[in-house]
Amino acid sequence: MLLARPVQIGHSVTQRSRGSPLTDDLGTIPFVTSSPFIEPDRFAAVRSLHGIPRMRTSTGDLGWLVSRYDDARALCADPRIGRSHTAPERAPRLWHAALFPPQSDPRQEMRQHRAWRSRLAPRFGRRSVAAWRPRVQAWADETVDDLIAAGPPADACALVAMPFSLRVILDFFGIPYADAELFHQQQTRARCPDPAEYSSTEMYAYLEALLDRKRRRPGDDAMSDLAAIEGAPRIRAMGSGFIDHTTIALRIGYGLLFLLADPAQRDLLWRTPGLLPSAVEEILRVAVPGGSWIPRYALADIEHGQTQMSAGDLVVFAFESINRDERIFPDPGRFAIDRDPNPHIAFGYGKFYCLASHLSRLMLEVILATLIRRLPGLRLAVAPEEVEVDRESVTGGLLRLPVTW
Ligand code: HEM
Repeated sequence: MLLARPVQIGHSVTQRSRGSPLTDDLGTIPFVTSSPFIEPDRFAAVRSLHGIPRMRTSTGDLGWLVSRYDDARALCADPRIGRSHTAPERAPRLWHAALFPPQSDPRQEMRQHRAWRSRLAPRFGRRSVAAWRPRVQAWADETVDDLIAAGPPADACALVAMPFSLRVILDFFGIPYADAELFHQQQTRARCPDPAEYSSTEMYAYLEALLDRKRRRPGDDAMSDLAAIEGAPRIRAMGSGFIDHTTIALRIGYGLLFLLADPAQRDLLWRTPGLLPSAVEEILRVAVPGGSWIPRYALADIEHGQTQMSAGDLVVFAFESINRDERIFPDPGRFAIDRDPNPHIAFGYGKFYCLASHLSRLMLEVILATLIRRLPGLRLAVAPEEVEVDRESVTGGLLRLPVTW
């Protein structure tokens, strides 16, 4: 099913900012999408501009918008792009939401990042995650049991994507499932446009108490690994979105929607389960809840092509656009589960590459395989265009996904 076609819209550069266009008439970022299947049409216009544009954000601040694949790879890998700012309380922001707050002390960032990442990465490595497959499978079976018990029709977001993601992530981190509601509430509030909705005090108090328990009685889990890291590197790790069930839950919801909304692709996958790994890659590339906007900061002056960024500037990566760059992906708007090659960078690129990329791929693959096997008749219970997008949360997602079988 053809999802989108690039739209060329007229634009004029109102003024230039350090060698690059300041494009007020392309609106503010993050762009809001009209449908889960269509990227905001301004992305095609932004990708066609010379240089990296400087855009106004929803807070009124300015940020460089990285919308093209090659720019994103180069800047993601650049050690002068980070999460911290010399004055975090005054740093330009992409949104008012609490999610992805600027960290402090840019001079220490990379050294401390290496310190925590080198300690945590082994547990998230390909082999150790592969050893988790039986456990992830058990959670998938339990989740599909609950879905079948609820009987058709049912909401696949509330009965599959969210509980499955919470169960696996909390188990992997060694966090009691009894505390799931606290985590879910905290993650949901961090994504609210109104920052007053979010308070980190309760969460940090909870995490510190948990880390204390893990220090005294370490378990074979990610929180025990974190508890073994001292001082600032641990704080930075916690500030990097370390425990995140929502991102994978939203992606499972969107992946299911894209599959079930396209009978030809759905039938191809149901007929050819061997295509599942490649279907997972295409879901990661193009089924992108909320556009996957990630704010970063220039830690030093950077000259990138004709664009000159200054230390402290906000640099915004729009992964939905980056992975629909027509220079890299033929027919980028088409959802094709057998797309090959598929060099998407949905998990980022370089130093901050997603720590949980292997775990997320495993979760997507196992839950889809379990649904295909146990519910051969799974389909949408409404027309695709009736599926509602969550316009409140800055990371988007679906309000619900009605399915039947
Ligand atoms: C489909 C699901 C997911 C996607 C698409 C995704 C995507 C990303 C992206 C784009 C980055 C930033 C990369 C950069 O700046 O270059 C990132 C970083 C990160 N992600 Fe994920 N993520 C997913 C799931 C998860 C989950 C489930 C967790 C944890 C349980 C997680 C933990 C992290 C951490 C800790 C980082 C920071 C890594 C670092 O700074 O070294 N992610 N992710």
